[in-house]
Amino acid sequence: MKKDLLSISDLSKREFLSLLKKAQHLKKYPKKYHHALYEKTLMTYFQQPSLRTEVSFDVAMFQMGGEIIDYHAETSPWAKGKEALEDVAKVISRYCDIIMIRMPNHEDLVKFAKNASIPVINGLTSLEHPCQIVGDFLTILEKKKKLTNLKLAYVGDANNNVTHSLMLACALFGLDMSISCPALEEFLPQPSLVKQAKTIAQKTGVNITITANPREAAQNSDILYTDSFMSYHIPKSQEKRRVKLLKPFQVNQELIKYAKKNAIFMHCLPAKRGYEVTADVIDGKQSVVFDQAENRLHAQKAIILHLMHK
Ligand code: NVA
Repeated sequence: MKKDLLSISDLSKREFLSLLKKAQHLKKYPKKYHHALYEKTLMTYFQQPSLRTEVSFDVAMFQMGGEIIDYHAETSPWAKGKEALEDVAKVISRYCDIIMIRMPNHEDLVKFAKNASIPVINGLTSLEHPCQIVGDFLTILEKKKKLTNLKLAYVGDANNNVTHSLMLACALFGLDMSISCPALEEFLPQPSLVKQAKTIAQKTGVNITITANPREAAQNSDILYTDSFMSYHIPKSQEKRRVKLLKPFQVNQELIKYAKKNAIFMHCLPAKRGYEVTADVIDGKQSVVFDQAENRLHAQKAIILHLMHK
């Protein structure tokens, strides 16, 4: 049966661990995989901007001997409302071996996957960003040498794809996660995802907590994580208001002092210095953001191989 990666919840802990092991091997011995995807085609479809996801998927396919078709919404009859999503899924399945999609609407992605007979990868929806989190956990494993007995603090806009996928992964692996955001529905993580993560966390014996106090969240954390105040799907017209409300949740030198001395700072990028993080933190010695970005490539390769049963 074909397998998709639409959500972190599509992965069991065993599968996630094997992805990380595979990604480590791919990172160490990239040449061993030069022909792994010979004559295989991955299509990437973007309705929103991308740097890391687009380029790392392209390079991943190139380095594994496969082909890539980069397809963008501007030229697509589907994005223009001229072709049903169900039909597009069926057509693409006749040409390609696997597809990665970036689109804001998560339900549309699920509908696409139901109609496709090839594996579908979520390359970011407004609800989740699983590829990012596979790369992030590879980074955490490299830096902390373990994935348990750790506290991850997420500070900022928490009604956010990265926060949601992080919650599910922390719950699965047994990391405590403390989220800090303004106490307004607009910035709080989606209740259904919180419920899902808490149910898993109960079994792994960790806590997922939410507080309006960023210092409380950061206190004693091993990992301090933030994301943009202005995710791709948020209109520019909201920027001024959001910055005002989210600024108290900025990761800066004052906040990082509450984390452990050897804590790492993570950000999925793109980042705006002076908004969600100050330049001295993101460019400082605790920051691992560029290792994180590099690991997207190794993680992406592992995801493609896993879904293609290679
Ligand atoms: N939350 C961000 C993630 C970017 C990789 C966004 O959706 O724009």
